[in-house]
Amino acid sequence: MGLIGIGGQGRIHLRNCLRLKKAKLIGVADISETSLKFAKKLGIRNVYKNYDDLLSNQQIDAVIISLPNFLHFESVTKAAEAGKDIFLEKPLARNVAEGRKILSNVKRNGVKLMLGYNMRFTTTLRKLHEKIADGFFGEVEIVQATNVSHGPFTPKGGIKTLRSVPSWWFNKDLAGGGALLDLGSHLINLLSWYFGEVKNVESYLGYKFNMELEDSAICILKFRTGPLATINVGWFSKDLIQSIQICGTAKNLSMHLSPPSISHLIFRDIRRKLGIFKYDSYYTELKYFVECLWNDASPSPSGEEGLSDLQVISMAYKHSHNLA
Ligand SMILES: NC(=O)c1ccc[n+]([C@@H]2O[C@H](COP(=O)([O-])OP(=O)(O)OC[C@H]3O[C@@H](n4cnc5c(N)ncnc54)[C@H](O)[C@@H]3O)[C@@H](O)[C@H]2O)c1
Repeated sequence: MGLIGIGGQGRIHLRNCLRLKKAKLIGVADISETSLKFAKKLGIRNVYKNYDDLLSNQQIDAVIISLPNFLHFESVTKAAEAGKDIFLEKPLARNVAEGRKILSNVKRNGVKLMLGYNMRFTTTLRKLHEKIADGFFGEVEIVQATNVSHGPFTPKGGIKTLRSVPSWWFNKDLAGGGALLDLGSHLINLLSWYFGEVKNVESYLGYKFNMELEDSAICILKFRTGPLATINVGWFSKDLIQSIQICGTAKNLSMHLSPPSISHLIFRDIRRKLGIFKYDSYYTELKYFVECLWNDASPSPSGEEGLSDLQVISMAYKHSHNLA
């Protein structure tokens, strides 16, 4: 495998790639010398400043792309043309038109494409999918999901690799959207996996930080299968706040996915020390991607799912109320 983009998210993938048993990380690419140095320290020998050089390495069958949103179209197209299977960080693209072009290029070249919606690989949220499908809740009527964090504001990568906040995140042209595209795409993808196609959506956008991009959003979604859902996202909190509430005719559930309890954190640290990463969603999604490659299976979350998420987000922007 090859990894393109070793920024905040790419570094997580880099570490996890080194833990994979059925795949080997052959090389990485990044325009930043600091990022390449980081990779070299972890023992990666093939480091490229230009990702075209990584793509021409014939030893590499598949790539993980963790580049800023404005580079998704160009990099996926080049990787597909080089015949590489692709794991692409969410969102698929900046907008629907770009997403459609990506899918057509991927299809034309016959390669696989998976999107990095890691919440889909959280054990509890996977179990919830089974319960909903089994009818445990009866008919689900109302759902509420929250995904709030610091967003791009806090330098990522921990204190040892402290670096400035990448400016592309705050540029509407380069990012394509704010908190709704960034954090909302995770929830829209998750709820669409649970409940199917979104019929209607309306949104309320917040601009606390006076940027051209929304830094918070509340969306109301109506699913064709029946449920009415609200999703809440924001880039304003130092803590990660993730929760879901499901109200059905037979059963209901209210669950906080974060902040994790102290015992959860202790067990996570012990597991990491012992080299057990199977409960880590970022690791699990990569492991699953590799399994799909070995078994010649189509991975999910797929590019098509990513496109339908962008369609919902585009509808949400269109039917939005500005709460500035
Ligand atoms: N799944 C998640 O939970 C999650 C979390 C954060 C970010 N992301 C996604 O990951 C992607 C990257 O976000 P990030 O926060 O890591 O961004 P970032 O800016 O921290 O990292 C991007 C990296 O790409 C490199 N880069 C820029 N242009 C390049 C080029 N032409 N060639 C090679 N390298 C280049 C930069 O030097 C940087 O190291 C985004 O699409 C974002 O939405 C996903």
